[in-house]
Amino acid sequence: MQPKGFFSAFHDVWMLDGVRTPMVDYCGAIGHVSPTDLGIKAARAVLQRTGVSAGDVDSVIAGNMAPGDFEQFVLPRHIGLYAGVPVEVPAIMVQRICGTGFELFRQAGEQIQSGAASVALVVGAESMTRNPIAAFEHRTGFKLGAPVGFKDFMWEALKDSAAGIDMIQTAENLAKKYGITREAVDEFASSSFAKAVAAREAGFHAGEIVPVVSETFELAGYAPRGIRLSGKVSEVAHDTHARLSPVDVLAKLKAVHAGGVQTGGNSAALVDAAAAAVVASGDYVKAHGKKPLARVVAAAVVGVPPEIMGIGPAPAIRLLLQRCGLTLDQIGRFEINEAQGAQTLAVARELDLDLRKLNVNGGAIAMGHPLAVTGVRLTMTVAREMRRAGARYGIASACVGGGQGIALLLENPQGSEILK
Ligand SMILES: CC(C)(COP(=O)(O)OP(=O)(O)OC[C@H]1O[C@@H](n2cnc3c(N)ncnc32)[C@H](O)[C@@H]1OP(=O)(O)O)[C@@H](O)C(=O)NCCC(=O)NCCS
Repeated sequence: MQPKGFFSAFHDVWMLDGVRTPMVDYCGAIGHVSPTDLGIKAARAVLQRTGVSAGDVDSVIAGNMAPGDFEQFVLPRHIGLYAGVPVEVPAIMVQRICGTGFELFRQAGEQIQSGAASVALVVGAESMTRNPIAAFEHRTGFKLGAPVGFKDFMWEALKDSAAGIDMIQTAENLAKKYGITREAVDEFASSSFAKAVAAREAGFHAGEIVPVVSETFELAGYAPRGIRLSGKVSEVAHDTHARLSPVDVLAKLKAVHAGGVQTGGNSAALVDAAAAAVVASGDYVKAHGKKPLARVVAAAVVGVPPEIMGIGPAPAIRLLLQRCGLTLDQIGRFEINEAQGAQTLAVARELDLDLRKLNVNGGAIAMGHPLAVTGVRLTMTVAREMRRAGARYGIASACVGGGQGIALLLENPQGSEILK
């Protein structure tokens, strides 16, 4: 019997290129910018980078989790329109929490595979800073003496009421299940920071970043909008979270839950960002002489128990490999989202992964995890890293709160039979 889950194979679907804003610690220099404007910025930049005319885009697929302002409903539409995509072209909002960015590619792949679209613009945008302080029970007024229920949306959204625990506790469950110690988690986190700093110094990250500046996004016949940085800041060009973090420094940080292994130093950092990519059919690639970054080969999504949601990438990757007829050792590079250090280590142990192939340019512990953006970044990063390393296949994957895992298989066009 086939394991349960979605599997989609794409025969001739290509990621032309991707681009992202810097990932900036929350409450930092882009904390006041709406996710829609961050998304427009990334969308415009990727069209420019790929040389794809906005008029060629057939589908806008955008992801965003935290409502960053009152226009979240129209975020995909506004990203498309202000990126110059024709008014007739539809746009959709996609949410699969931490797997949203991958889901954008999965849906783009299905649209292109089915012939519904030739070119899809995929955009993930997230402002962790602008998570609202929200209340859901005051529509009918405030009763005298009753509690006033405003709460931090981000803090509350990181809990799973079915399991009665928060996301950090799901990682603690995995730490217990796989016998992962605080020392092991800090060591993994320290190496994530070191790899991210080395990749930044080598210029790897700069290759996928478009700096954020103050600018106006015009759209003929409609209200202009844009990004205004604060007076003293003229440009935001770099990720801000990664810094060398030796194990002995990380070891001193207080556990989020007493006796646990997860701390603020070995869990994903909270950052603001957007990332975008252009996905196109083989016919479009050939007709326009494009040199794609990667072939989007296949995608898999599965469910796992909510209380160990972080193990999701393991069965998703197993399903992907099984259905593609590949083995783990044929995969040259892995990007698996570091939601929490113990979570990523549990996935690595479950799959018996070679850590030298995993997150070689640093992960979310060092760089941050802007929920809907992460999958776009990891897909772009694994594709660029496969090129750099000369690997044929790469997998990018994430766990998903509520208990899911999602994984994408990419092929380096330089090793692809189809493009030849
Ligand atoms: C773990 C978490 C709760 C910590 O939040 P926080 O308490 O606001 O974290 P901070 O960044 O303030 O870090 C806590 C402390 O560690 C310190 N710290 C963090 N990283 C550090 C590093 N690399 N080196 C040295 N110190 C570090 C901070 O300076 C801070 O110190 P302070 O208390 O003296 O100010 C939060 O980051 C989180 O929930 N992350 C995971 C999100 C997640 O699960 N996403 C996936 C959803 S499935």
